Amino acid sequence: MFAIAIDGPAAAGKSSTAQSVARELGMLHVDTGALYRAVAYYVDAHPETDLDSALSEMSITVRHENGRQRTILDQRDVSDMIRSEKIGDLASKLSDHTIVRQYLLDTQRNVAREHDVVMDGRDIGTVILPDADLKIFLTASLEERAKRRMLQLGLPDLGQVTKEIRQRDRQDAPRLRVKAPDAVILDSTFMEPENVTKAIVKMARHLMDKSREQGKDG
Ligand code: CDP
Repeated sequence: MFAIAIDGPAAAGKSSTAQSVARELGMLHVDTGALYRAVAYYVDAHPETDLDSALSEMSITVRHENGRQRTILDQRDVSDMIRSEKIGDLASKLSDHTIVRQYLLDTQRNVAREHDVVMDGRDIGTVILPDADLKIFLTASLEERAKRRMLQLGLPDLGQVTKEIRQRDRQDAPRLRVKAPDAVILDSTFMEPENVTKAIVKMARHLMDKSREQGKDG
């Protein structure tokens, strides 16, 4: 199996990049942030339930439709409902809990056991897939990420979005500080999205060719 891990801060373009890289290479894209968002969606809808019980009650799975990940919470497709900033913020807060990270660990690893994947998140190259063939740490300046998030969600107030992303960086800091030592850092601040995709696809193809050649030699 071939695995590409893409980690990095909020709104750096991880998911859309991972999606196009996966399409280009015929692999499966796994958006792990969507799993954290699904947990948040459930918790938000059940304020009376404590986290332990909530995790044992909910069931989260993913399936792929035309190469796009759909996130299923208790048999219901919640892929679109989990995109709001409110759910993103709650996901970020919940992601600090070890029980939540532990709960989602197997779901993430199991997909990569069965398929070639491009998986994006915060701890993919370090915790989930430490043996990934290619690890990318995708980043961009705070200003650029805020602009991208504003366009993505059609939000009107850049100042407000910048504040929210800064807050998210603070919450995600423990995981973002630990970069896999073998990750390639890609700063996309001044790059067009298609060139980010091309750069990653090129690295992946190079590694695939190399391992094929080594396979021939050995
Ligand atoms: O799109 P954005 O980067 O803002 O967020 P996301 O990737 O959808 O993830 C939502 C939140 O889940 C993030 O802010 C992280 O705190 C958390 N997360 C995580 O802790 N580990 C992951 N592998 C993926 C997401």
